[in-house]
Amino acid sequence: MANELSIQAAIAHGRERLQHCADNPHNEALMLLQYITGKSKTLLLAYPEDTLTSAQVQFYEQALNRRDQGEPMAYILAQREFWTLDLKVISGVLIPRPETELLVEACLPILAQQQQAKILDLGTGSGCIALALAKEFPSAQIIACDISATCIDVAQYNAQANAISNVHFMRSHWFSEIHGIQFDLIVSNPPYIDEDDVDIDPEVERFEPDIALFADHHGYADIFHIIENSPSYLSAKGTLIVEHGWQQAEKIRQHMADNGYTGISSSCDLQLHERITQGQRTT
Ligand SMILES: C[S@@+](CC[C@H](N)C(=O)[O-])C[C@H]1O[C@@H](n2cnc3c(N)ncnc32)[C@H](O)[C@@H]1O
Repeated sequence: MANELSIQAAIAHGRERLQHCADNPHNEALMLLQYITGKSKTLLLAYPEDTLTSAQVQFYEQALNRRDQGEPMAYILAQREFWTLDLKVISGVLIPRPETELLVEACLPILAQQQQAKILDLGTGSGCIALALAKEFPSAQIIACDISATCIDVAQYNAQANAISNVHFMRSHWFSEIHGIQFDLIVSNPPYIDEDDVDIDPEVERFEPDIALFADHHGYADIFHIIENSPSYLSAKGTLIVEHGWQQAEKIRQHMADNGYTGISSSCDLQLHERITQGQRTT
């Protein structure tokens, strides 16, 4: 590619390079150019004759190569929007998904009556769930944990970048470092994919962390561990709410019932798949 390139030529070049790997090559080319130049989409389109520096051209080409090899845009841009937040994401941290916003949404009515609730987010990743809840409920006291040091670093960065101060992040193997607190709400989007699942998107499998995706026991091991142990950490009538795979709801409801939860119910995503299940500690 040329050393200097006009914005117009760069958009056309990007569109061509991305046509096999992106649903919307034009939009992705623009997103990369926004990131590289720091200019808004409007400015890029209003001044198509402006040129990229040779360093910007080189960076653009590298970004196009990464995307062409299937790397998700969120990792290339090191950024993903979630709820009302701009979050940093890097390799080693799961990219927050739109479905997980439904998990946040499902927590809202539970927390509406308890603005000062104590909340535990298990497997916080980028911090997306904990930070979205913290922003909605600034008086809530939230602990968010993850086994991965990279995730905790990134989640802490995200809290600071979004000026959120009511979440305490810590490393913990599920409940291992949680002592002496009873929570009104435990929320989790744990790993739940069966390692033998042949339907997993190859790009997800290649680029996103295994530890965030896969769980033993056909994908149920971590969710079952959380269901079995949460009652010891929930206050009376406290709620556990988990995200899970679209075919797992029935077994999860049964496991909650077997472990003494009441008020068990599941809710659906936009494809009408049951993806979120909640239950209450009995007393
Ligand atoms: C599906 S990801 C969810 C991340 C984030 N909450 C979200 O919704 O985008 C599961 C998270 O659980 C974490 N995790 C896996 N095993 C864990 C364990 N034993 N203890 C704590 N966290 C764990 C992973 O590092 C990952 O960040």
